[in-house]
Amino acid sequence: MIVLKNEEQIDGIRTSCKLLAEMFEEIGPKIEAGMSTYDVDKLFHEWMKRRHLGAPCLGYMGYPAATCVSVNNVVIHGIPSKHEILRDGDIVSVDICLEKDGYISDSTHTYEIGKVSDEVHQLNTVTERCLYLGIEAASKPGARIQDIAAAVSGLARKHGYGVVRDYCGHGVGLEMHEDPEIPNYVSLMNPNPRIRKGMVMAIEPMINMGTYKVDTDGKDGWTVRTLDGKPACHWEHTVAITDTGLEILTTL
Ligand code: MF3
Ligand code: CO
Repeated sequence: MIVLKNEEQIDGIRTSCKLLAEMFEEIGPKIEAGMSTYDVDKLFHEWMKRRHLGAPCLGYMGYPAATCVSVNNVVIHGIPSKHEILRDGDIVSVDICLEKDGYISDSTHTYEIGKVSDEVHQLNTVTERCLYLGIEAASKPGARIQDIAAAVSGLARKHGYGVVRDYCGHGVGLEMHEDPEIPNYVSLMNPNPRIRKGMVMAIEPMINMGTYKVDTDGKDGWTVRTLDGKPACHWEHTVAITDTGLEILTTL
């Protein structure tokens, strides 16, 4: 069931989203080679704690951290670790949900550490463009959920990239994961609801350099890696459909 949000709720979600955007803007540039993924998580988590903001990922189905920090071939749900050190040429996606007054925001940025290879830089640039194409598709009058997938996968495929199928975007705002599911690939099997005023959505392309196939770590039960070991990028914004159309909430 898709829960439509009223103006007051959207105001609350917007406030949560603006804080998340501010945090990315402030902390993002501090991420550099030599830091561990635990250090990265700590920078963000401390920022949230100082402002008494909730970290809904922490403890979610037993997830042990406030953020997901996914390096290179890790697509999503990388668990921050003191033993995983960022090096020049790495990419690292930081996926964060933030809660303020009960309202939840969700956004992901993929950072390039030092100088990455041209092909990795291209993957990251294209993945971010996939996000904005998906958002643009969602903003068209009469658009449906699968229009997002068509836009995202259209660009990704043109570059020969794999579009992750096992994980999707989602409704968000009152809970971390709400309906509808927002896949990044098109399928006749998937529901295709119309996008309507009051919907708040996390749109989040996960794009792989090679195969779309991924695999979850059997030991920690979280870390999702590309099956072929090639790199993956992930970008995400929370958006709302209001009276005046689509608004990207997790930007300043
Ligand atoms: N932020 C993720 C999303 O985009 C969810 C993270 S799963 C968690 O849906 F376990 F880390 F919470
Ligand atoms: Co999300």
